[in-house]
Amino acid sequence: MSLLFEPMTLRETQFANRAWVAPMCQYSADGGLVGDWHLAHLGSLATGGFGLVVAEATAVVAEGRISPRDAGLWHESHVEAWRRITSFVHERGTLLGVQLAHAGRKASTYWPWHERSGTVPFEDGGWGTRGPSAVPFPGYVPPAEVTPEDIAALPELFAAAARRALAAGFDVVEVHAAHGYLLHEFLSPLSNVRTDEYGGSLENRMRLPLEVTRAVREAWPEERALLVRISATDWVTGGLTVDESVELAKELAVAGADLVDVSTGGNVLADIPVGPGYQVPAARAVREGAGVPVSAVGLITDPLQAEQVLVDQAADAVMLGRAALREPRWALRAAHELGDARGTWQPQYERARL
Ligand SMILES: Cc1cc2nc3c(=O)[nH]c(=O)nc-3n(C[C@H](O)[C@H](O)[C@H](O)COP(=O)(O)O)c2cc1C
Repeated sequence: MSLLFEPMTLRETQFANRAWVAPMCQYSADGGLVGDWHLAHLGSLATGGFGLVVAEATAVVAEGRISPRDAGLWHESHVEAWRRITSFVHERGTLLGVQLAHAGRKASTYWPWHERSGTVPFEDGGWGTRGPSAVPFPGYVPPAEVTPEDIAALPELFAAAARRALAAGFDVVEVHAAHGYLLHEFLSPLSNVRTDEYGGSLENRMRLPLEVTRAVREAWPEERALLVRISATDWVTGGLTVDESVELAKELAVAGADLVDVSTGGNVLADIPVGPGYQVPAARAVREGAGVPVSAVGLITDPLQAEQVLVDQAADAVMLGRAALREPRWALRAAHELGDARGTWQPQYERARL
């Protein structure tokens, strides 16, 4: 018996195990509409034995897309496209989440395999970006500073996308407040130099992410789990710190988040000591300091390593990104290697269990 395959419950959402798939942009949508690629990609992960699969950063408004090819939930027409995918995933008995996102000053960029990089110009289908302040991400076109009216509209944009996520059949929603996208931009003093009630003190910088979380909580069914992904540190002097993120996590829990998904970085260029489990200490600090459930992510690749994160009580669940792309049935291998009979095998694959 492992901890990795121990079930977990948040509100009334029951996770079969604690090996989860992290949200990963596929840059394969058309006008926000997901299609066959997403069905094959998320469908294969749904046969992989994971306790939760979180679908990619999905824009709550068209201008909040990282690239023109991002998935969306800003329009009713997106609901049916997602429903086809949630139906397939549910037939496989797997939970599907979706990450609700606004890319802020890092919107309107080319997708990774495009021959060009950086900001997409208007003539190539790009759009003007907005952020908390007119401070650009290095190498990108400077954003316009959002107005108080823009800010007032944002919680409802996230809430409306959460209602569409419910109509589309998702089991879990995650608010994206990490990786240098809009909500993280508000949290970090490096991208937020506002002098109104949304900038300056930590209390002010947290205001919008907390308003968004409360709005999503109200829109999302009481009995279903709500996650928030944060970047617990900017990894540079003068940036968001782990201590501040502990305070943030406490407030997120009050606002209705059931688990904080602890990532790091992405808001500025930084020298990050990347290595196996490099973000686990941040997850542990948030878990211990704020007393909230957390997931750990970042170069967790090996079943025994994942198990150790849980044994060490550094996190309540682990998320896998690239390892799950390399091996969509990673969690089945993990159950096999850890000798845990609780792995979730599709009947078609049952003969591989032992
Ligand atoms: C192709 C790809 C797309 C990603 N897209 C997202 C995303 O949509 N939202 C997000 O929060 N993180 C995204 N990430 C980051 C992952 O969720 C994860 O945090 C990161 O890859 C570190 O975990 P890993 O070492 O297990 O890959 C992406 C990563 C990859 C490789």
